[in-house]
Amino acid sequence: MTNILHIASSSNLHNSVSREIGAATVEGLKQAHAGATVVTRDLVQNPVPHIAPAFVDVMYTRHDAPELALSRTLIAEAMASDIIVIEAPMYNFNIPSVLKAWIDHVVRAGLTFKYGAAGVEGLLKGKKVVLVLGRGGMYTEGPMKAMDYQETYLRAVLGFIGITDVDAILIEGVGMGAEKRAEALAKARAKIATITSRRAA
Ligand SMILES: Cc1cc2nc3c(=O)[nH]c(=O)nc-3n(C[C@H](O)[C@H](O)[C@H](O)COP(=O)(O)O)c2cc1C
Repeated sequence: MTNILHIASSSNLHNSVSREIGAATVEGLKQAHAGATVVTRDLVQNPVPHIAPAFVDVMYTRHDAPELALSRTLIAEAMASDIIVIEAPMYNFNIPSVLKAWIDHVVRAGLTFKYGAAGVEGLLKGKKVVLVLGRGGMYTEGPMKAMDYQETYLRAVLGFIGITDVDAILIEGVGMGAEKRAEALAKARAKIATITSRRAA
Protein backbone atom coordinates (compact mmCIF):
# COMPACT_ATOMS: atom_id res chain seq x y z
CA MET A 1 0.00 0.00 0.00
CA THR A 2 1.21 3.49 -0.81
CA ASN A 3 1.32 6.16 1.90
CA ILE A 4 1.09 9.75 0.73
CA LEU A 5 2.05 12.70 2.92
CA HIS A 6 0.43 15.91 1.67
CA ILE A 7 1.81 19.23 2.92
CA ALA A 8 0.09 22.55 2.27
CA SER A 9 1.69 25.91 3.04
CA SER A 10 -0.12 28.66 1.12
CA SER A 11 -1.77 31.31 3.30
CA ASN A 12 -4.26 31.85 0.48
CA LEU A 13 -7.31 29.73 1.33
CA HIS A 14 -9.47 31.07 -1.55
CA ASN A 15 -7.71 30.72 -4.89
CA SER A 16 -4.26 29.35 -4.21
CA VAL A 17 -2.69 27.73 -7.26
CA SER A 18 -0.40 25.49 -5.17
CA ARG A 19 -3.41 24.25 -3.17
CA GLU A 20 -5.44 23.65 -6.36
CA ILE A 21 -2.67 21.80 -8.19
CA GLY A 22 -1.45 20.04 -5.02
CA ALA A 23 -4.94 18.64 -4.35
CA ALA A 24 -5.22 17.49 -7.98
CA THR A 25 -1.78 15.86 -7.71
CA VAL A 26 -2.80 13.91 -4.60
CA GLU A 27 -6.03 12.88 -6.35
CA GLY A 28 -4.05 11.68 -9.38
CA LEU A 29 -1.66 9.72 -7.16
CA LYS A 30 -4.58 8.11 -5.31
CA GLN A 31 -6.03 6.97 -8.62
CA ALA A 32 -2.63 5.64 -9.73
CA HIS A 33 -2.08 3.77 -6.44
CA ALA A 34 -5.22 1.86 -5.46
CA GLY A 35 -5.82 1.88 -1.69
CA ALA A 36 -3.30 4.67 -1.02
CA THR A 37 -3.58 6.41 2.35
CA VAL A 38 -3.19 10.17 2.68
CA VAL A 39 -1.98 12.10 5.72
CA THR A 40 -2.45 15.85 5.31
CA ARG A 41 -0.49 18.54 7.15
CA ASP A 42 -1.94 21.97 6.47
CA LEU A 43 0.75 24.20 7.93
CA VAL A 44 -1.42 27.31 7.66
CA GLN A 45 -4.61 26.00 9.23
CA ASN A 46 -2.64 23.96 11.79
CA PRO A 47 0.77 25.62 12.03
CA VAL A 48 3.84 23.94 13.43
CA PRO A 49 5.49 26.31 15.93
CA HIS A 50 8.96 27.70 15.40
CA ILE A 51 11.49 25.61 17.30
CA ALA A 52 11.75 26.94 20.85
CA PRO A 53 14.78 27.32 23.17
CA ALA A 54 13.61 24.22 25.09
CA PHE A 55 13.71 22.28 21.80
CA VAL A 56 17.28 23.30 21.02
CA ASP A 57 18.41 22.52 24.58
CA VAL A 58 17.58 18.81 24.16
CA MET A 59 17.65 18.18 20.41
CA TYR A 60 21.14 16.61 20.35
CA THR A 61 21.06 14.85 23.69
CA ARG A 62 17.55 13.63 24.57
CA HIS A 63 15.64 12.34 21.56
CA ASP A 64 12.82 11.14 23.84
CA ALA A 65 12.31 14.54 25.53
CA PRO A 66 8.70 15.79 25.64
CA GLU A 67 9.81 19.06 23.98
CA LEU A 68 10.57 17.00 20.85
CA ALA A 69 7.25 15.13 20.74
CA LEU A 70 5.91 17.05 17.73
CA SER A 71 9.21 16.68 15.92
CA ARG A 72 9.06 12.89 16.48
CA THR A 73 5.50 12.80 15.13
CA LEU A 74 6.40 14.81 12.02
CA ILE A 75 9.47 12.65 11.37
CA ALA A 76 7.39 9.47 11.82
CA GLU A 77 4.89 10.79 9.25
CA ALA A 78 7.70 11.47 6.78
CA MET A 79 9.35 8.08 7.48
CA ALA A 80 6.03 6.24 6.98
CA SER A 81 5.38 7.93 3.64
CA ASP A 82 6.27 6.62 0.20
CA ILE A 83 5.39 9.83 -1.64
CA ILE A 84 5.44 13.35 -0.20
CA VAL A 85 3.57 16.12 -2.03
CA ILE A 86 4.86 19.50 -0.87
CA GLU A 87 2.91 22.58 -1.91
CA ALA A 88 4.83 25.84 -1.60
CA PRO A 89 4.02 29.31 -2.87
CA MET A 90 7.04 31.53 -3.45
CA TYR A 91 7.17 34.21 -0.75
CA ASN A 92 9.98 36.71 -1.18
CA PHE A 93 11.93 34.34 -3.42
CA ASN A 94 11.77 31.50 -0.90
CA ILE A 95 9.32 29.15 0.81
CA PRO A 96 6.71 30.29 3.38
CA SER A 97 8.04 30.40 6.95
CA VAL A 98 5.37 27.87 8.04
CA LEU A 99 6.99 25.31 5.75
CA LYS A 100 10.45 26.24 7.01
CA ALA A 101 9.21 25.59 10.57
CA TRP A 102 8.11 22.07 9.50
CA ILE A 103 11.54 21.49 7.95
CA ASP A 104 13.24 22.58 11.20
CA HIS A 105 11.30 19.86 13.05
CA VAL A 106 12.04 17.17 10.45
CA VAL A 107 15.74 17.70 9.62
CA ARG A 108 17.31 16.18 12.76
CA ALA A 109 20.81 14.82 13.34
CA GLY A 110 20.71 11.11 14.15
CA LEU A 111 17.12 10.75 12.93
CA THR A 112 16.80 12.00 9.36
CA PHE A 113 20.51 12.54 8.62
CA LYS A 114 23.77 11.51 10.23
CA TYR A 115 27.43 12.27 9.95
CA GLY A 116 29.43 9.20 8.92
CA ALA A 117 32.94 8.47 7.68
CA ALA A 118 31.95 9.60 4.18
CA GLY A 119 30.34 12.82 5.42
CA VAL A 120 26.63 13.51 5.68
CA GLU A 121 24.25 10.64 5.03
CA GLY A 122 20.53 11.26 4.52
CA LEU A 123 18.33 8.73 6.31
CA LEU A 124 14.99 9.29 4.54
CA LYS A 125 15.80 6.94 1.70
CA GLY A 126 13.50 5.55 -0.98
CA LYS A 127 10.96 8.40 -0.84
CA LYS A 128 9.54 10.22 -3.81
CA VAL A 129 8.65 13.90 -3.57
CA VAL A 130 6.46 16.03 -5.79
CA LEU A 131 6.97 19.77 -5.31
CA VAL A 132 4.04 21.98 -6.31
CA LEU A 133 5.44 25.49 -6.59
CA GLY A 134 3.42 28.67 -7.16
CA ARG A 135 5.15 31.87 -8.28
CA GLY A 136 3.91 35.29 -9.32
CA GLY A 137 6.80 35.80 -11.74
CA MET A 138 9.00 33.67 -14.01
CA TYR A 139 12.10 31.96 -12.65
CA THR A 140 12.86 29.03 -14.96
CA GLU A 141 14.46 31.43 -17.42
CA GLY A 142 15.25 35.11 -17.68
CA PRO A 143 16.74 37.68 -15.32
CA MET A 144 14.96 36.37 -12.19
CA LYS A 145 16.36 32.83 -12.45
CA ALA A 146 19.11 33.51 -9.88
CA MET A 147 16.48 34.70 -7.37
CA ASP A 148 14.84 31.27 -7.09
CA TYR A 149 15.60 30.16 -3.54
CA GLN A 150 12.36 28.16 -3.46
CA GLU A 151 12.93 25.11 -5.71
CA THR A 152 16.72 25.26 -5.21
CA TYR A 153 16.40 25.30 -1.42
CA LEU A 154 13.79 22.53 -1.28
CA ARG A 155 15.88 20.26 -3.54
CA ALA A 156 18.98 20.98 -1.43
CA VAL A 157 17.40 20.27 1.96
CA LEU A 158 15.55 17.19 0.68
CA GLY A 159 18.81 15.87 -0.77
CA PHE A 160 20.48 16.45 2.60
CA ILE A 161 18.04 14.06 4.29
CA GLY A 162 18.35 11.49 1.51
CA ILE A 163 15.52 12.36 -0.87
CA THR A 164 16.72 12.81 -4.43
CA ASP A 165 13.75 11.47 -6.42
CA VAL A 166 12.07 14.86 -6.75
CA ASP A 167 9.65 16.09 -9.42
CA ALA A 168 8.63 19.73 -9.54
CA ILE A 169 5.35 21.07 -10.91
CA LEU A 170 5.96 24.76 -11.52
CA ILE A 171 3.01 27.14 -11.69
CA GLU A 172 4.78 30.34 -12.55
CA GLY A 173 3.86 33.75 -13.91
CA VAL A 174 0.49 33.61 -12.14
CA GLY A 175 0.77 37.30 -11.18
CA MET A 176 1.31 38.36 -14.81
CA GLY A 177 -2.32 38.48 -15.92
CA ALA A 178 -5.27 36.12 -16.30
CA GLU A 179 -3.99 34.61 -19.55
CA LYS A 180 -0.58 33.70 -18.12
CA ARG A 181 -2.22 32.29 -14.98
CA ALA A 182 -4.57 30.07 -17.04
CA GLU A 183 -1.62 28.97 -19.19
CA ALA A 184 0.42 28.08 -16.07
CA LEU A 185 -2.44 26.08 -14.57
CA ALA A 186 -3.00 24.15 -17.82
CA LYS A 187 0.73 23.36 -18.02
CA ALA A 188 0.71 22.20 -14.39
CA ARG A 189 -2.27 19.90 -14.97
CA ALA A 190 -0.49 18.34 -17.95
CA LYS A 191 2.57 17.76 -15.73
CA ILE A 192 0.39 16.05 -13.09
CA ALA A 193 -0.75 13.56 -15.72
CA THR A 194 2.87 12.82 -16.71
CA ILE A 195 4.00 12.40 -13.11
CA THR A 196 1.10 10.27 -11.93
CA SER A 197 1.30 7.92 -14.92
CA ARG A 198 5.06 7.53 -14.34
CA ARG A 199 4.58 7.02 -10.57
CA ALA A 200 2.04 4.28 -11.28
CA ALA A 201 4.53 2.33 -13.40
C1 LIG B 1 3.90 37.51 0.96
C2 LIG B 1 4.04 37.19 -0.50
C3 LIG B 1 5.28 37.25 -1.09
C4 LIG B 1 5.43 36.94 -2.43
N1 LIG B 1 6.67 36.97 -2.98
C5 LIG B 1 6.83 36.61 -4.29
C6 LIG B 1 8.13 36.56 -4.87
O1 LIG B 1 9.15 36.80 -4.24
N2 LIG B 1 8.22 36.21 -6.17
C7 LIG B 1 7.12 35.89 -6.93
O2 LIG B 1 7.28 35.56 -8.09
N3 LIG B 1 5.89 35.92 -6.39
C8 LIG B 1 5.73 36.27 -5.10
N4 LIG B 1 4.47 36.28 -4.54
C9 LIG B 1 3.34 35.83 -5.37
C10 LIG B 1 3.05 34.36 -5.13
O3 LIG B 1 4.18 33.55 -5.28
C11 LIG B 1 1.99 33.90 -6.11
O4 LIG B 1 0.82 34.63 -5.85
C12 LIG B 1 1.68 32.41 -6.04
O5 LIG B 1 0.49 32.20 -6.72
C13 LIG B 1 1.49 31.94 -4.64
O6 LIG B 1 1.02 30.60 -4.62
P1 LIG B 1 -0.46 30.30 -4.09
O7 LIG B 1 -1.41 30.82 -5.13
O8 LIG B 1 -0.49 28.84 -3.96
O9 LIG B 1 -0.63 31.01 -2.78
C14 LIG B 1 4.28 36.58 -3.20
C15 LIG B 1 3.03 36.53 -2.58
C16 LIG B 1 2.91 36.80 -1.25
C17 LIG B 1 1.54 36.70 -0.61
